[in-house]
Amino acid sequence: MKTLAIIGLQWGDEGKGKIIDHLAGEFDITVRFQGGGNAGHTVVAEGKKHVLHHIPSGILHAGKTALIADGTVLDAEALFTEIADLESAGVSTGGRIRIGWGVHMVMPYHKALDAASEDGAGEKIGTTRRGIGPCYADRKARLGIRLKDLFDRDSLARRVEKSLAEKNCLFKNLYGRPEFGAGDIIGMCRTWADRLGDMGVDTPSYLRAAISSGRSVLFEGAQGSLLDTDWGTYPFVTSSTTSASAVASGCGISMKLVGRIMGVAKAYTTRVGEGPFPTEDKGAVGEHLRRRGGEFGATTGRPRRCGWLDAVATRYAVDLNGADSLVVTKLDVLTGVDPIKICISYGPSGGMGADPRIPRRVVPEYVTFPGWKEDISSARSVSDLPGTCRSYLDSIERLVGAPIGLISVGPDRRQVFEKD
Ligand code: GDP
Ligand code: IMO
Ligand code: MG
Repeated sequence: MKTLAIIGLQWGDEGKGKIIDHLAGEFDITVRFQGGGNAGHTVVAEGKKHVLHHIPSGILHAGKTALIADGTVLDAEALFTEIADLESAGVSTGGRIRIGWGVHMVMPYHKALDAASEDGAGEKIGTTRRGIGPCYADRKARLGIRLKDLFDRDSLARRVEKSLAEKNCLFKNLYGRPEFGAGDIIGMCRTWADRLGDMGVDTPSYLRAAISSGRSVLFEGAQGSLLDTDWGTYPFVTSSTTSASAVASGCGISMKLVGRIMGVAKAYTTRVGEGPFPTEDKGAVGEHLRRRGGEFGATTGRPRRCGWLDAVATRYAVDLNGADSLVVTKLDVLTGVDPIKICISYGPSGGMGADPRIPRRVVPEYVTFPGWKEDISSARSVSDLPGTCRSYLDSIERLVGAPIGLISVGPDRRQVFEKD
C-alpha cells in the first residue's frame, strides 16, 4: 500500500502545493479531503505559476487523477473558473477530476453570510470570505446541499427553501442585506448539476478499490494544523478539521489506509487573518520575510503576518498529526537574516509542551542561530548548504521533534531535495 498524507503544521501556506506537485508524479491519485476554496496552493512548474483552490495539485501531472473528496466544500462557479484557467494554461483536465457525491456545495448565500458576519459588529476572524464557515455550519446543522442533492429536483427545492428561510431572516433583520430567491438558487443548482454530474464518484469504494489494486494515493491537506477547528487557535480557526485525522473522515475510509504522514513547515512562520501569533515580528525582520518570501495570500492577496519559527507550536502540530517526517520550505528566504531565532518556550507561564491554543499573552523565549549570506536557491543536496544553514536544520529536527525528509529552497518544482 502506498499512501501518504501531506499536512500543514502551521497556520497554512506552508508550501503544501509545491510539495504535493513535487511528489504527485509518483502517485496515481491526489485527493483533497477537507476545506474548500479558502485554500490557495501555488505551484510553479515549467516557468508557469498555477494557483489551485479546489483541485488537487496532482492535476498538473498528465494522466493522474485529482479527487475532491466528500469532506470538502465546493464552490461550483469557482471550480469552473479553475478548470478554465488550467485548460488555458495548457493543462488538460478532461476525465481526470472526480468529485465525491457527499461534497457540500458552497451557495451564494454562504458567501454573503461570511462577508456579512466579517463586516458586522464584534470580533473578526479575518476569513477568506469564501463561504466556508457558513457552509460547514449548514453541514452540521443538516441544512446543507450535497453534490448528490442537485439531482433530486423535489427534495432540492425543499432543502433550498428550508435553508434559505433562516438565512433570509438574517439578511433582512440582522444584516440589512438583500435576500436570496429560492428559484434563482435552484436554477443555478441545475446548471451546476449538468456540468458536475459526470465527475461524481463514490469516494470510499473508489479509493478502497484503487488502493487494493495497488494504485498509490497522495492526500493533500489544506490550511494548517493551527487552523483546525478543534485543535487550533480557536476561535481564530477555519471551519474544518485540518489535521491528518480528517483524511479518514473526509474520504470515508479507514485510518489504517493512511500510510505515512508528512508535515510541512516553513523555515519561519506566517499567518493571514486574525488571531494569536506568538513569534510575529512587526519590524524589519517581518518585513524582510514578507518581501523576500512574497508573503501575500494566494486566495485573497492579503499581506501575511510574518515571524520566527515557533518550535512550541510546530512540535504540538507534529504530535497532533503523528507526523513521521518534516518538510522544511522557504529556507532560501532566510538568506541574509542574521541572527535567526526559534521560539522554544512561551515563557514562565508555559514551557515546551504548553498548549499553543491559548498563547495570547505569552512571552516567547528564543534560541539564536548565526545566519548565512549565500544564495542557496540552487542547492540540490544538503552538502550544497552553508554550515550555519545545516546547523539550523539540525536544530529544527531536535526542537520540533521529527526528522526532516525534504528541504525546499525556492518556488520552482525543481528547487527541492531530500535531506539524506
Ligand atoms: P500552500 O497553501 O501551503 O500550498 O502555500 P501557498 O502556495 O499559499 O504559499 C507558499 C508560497 O511560497 C507560494 O507562492 C509558493 O510558490 C512559494 N514557495 C513554496 N516553496 C518555496 C520555497 O522553498 N522558497 C520560496 N522562495 N518560495 C516557495
Ligand atoms: P492554504 O490551504 C492560510 C485562514 C483565514 C482566516 C481563517 C478562517 O492555502 O494553506 P476561512 O475562510 O477558512 O473561514 O478563514 O483561516 N485560512 C487560511 N490561511 N492558508 C489557508 O489555506 C487558509 N484557509 C483559511 O485567513 O484566518
Ligand atoms: Mg495557501
